[in-house]
Amino acid sequence: MKIEAARNALDHVVDGLRLGIGTGSTAEEFVRLLAGKVSSGLKIVGVPTSERTAALCRELGVPLSSLDETPELDLTIDGADEVDPALTLVKGGGGALLREKIVAAASKSMIVIADRSKLVDELGRFPLPIEVNRFGLRATEIAISAAASRLGLSGPIALRMNGAEPLVTDGGHFIVDASFGRIPDPRALSDALHAIPGVVEHGLFIGLASMAIIAGGDGVEIVRAAR
Ligand code: A5P
Repeated sequence: MKIEAARNALDHVVDGLRLGIGTGSTAEEFVRLLAGKVSSGLKIVGVPTSERTAALCRELGVPLSSLDETPELDLTIDGADEVDPALTLVKGGGGALLREKIVAAASKSMIVIADRSKLVDELGRFPLPIEVNRFGLRATEIAISAAASRLGLSGPIALRMNGAEPLVTDGGHFIVDASFGRIPDPRALSDALHAIPGVVEHGLFIGLASMAIIAGGDGVEIVRAAR
């Protein structure tokens, strides 16, 4: 299903595109298919959303630029951990949410590729990844809990680990995963999290995705943003 969604997204990739390239297992399938098209002559330049994606692109011969060299992009294609009917997303399960959001925001449009399990009526079953500064971790966790509680949300906040050590993102930060269970008002939670100094960015993507290509056992469904 991930491959099917990725294959459909490839139809939107044309010569000359400045393309943001996502992170995660679905995005990796997309990179593999994209590399095939590049080797048959497709001319694009990709801006990767993580070191992991950059390494795969280099290995497979997908031409890359950086966001500093190419600060305005035509399209970003990326996976998601959850997609709701308004195309608000939860992202960051792969730890790349900060660069993913910067790249998506620099793109004229964003297409999400996912299997049907990612489509939900309400966000929040997947723990919300929040990228935090390493300094004052405990204070930031307490502030996140307090902000969530003012919105009627609660649940454990866990520091993401990589074996015995905290996971460190490409930007040099930590990630905490907040299990709130449900997020009825993503905008309110986003605003509340952005007001916390130790929060670098969070995994709620609001108003960024223009289309989702959702693959299920019985075919592909296209969900478009209502705007
Ligand atoms: C990476 O940080 C994430 O935002 C991914 O896009 C998300 O976790 C989806 O990954 P999969 O395609 O592996 O499910």
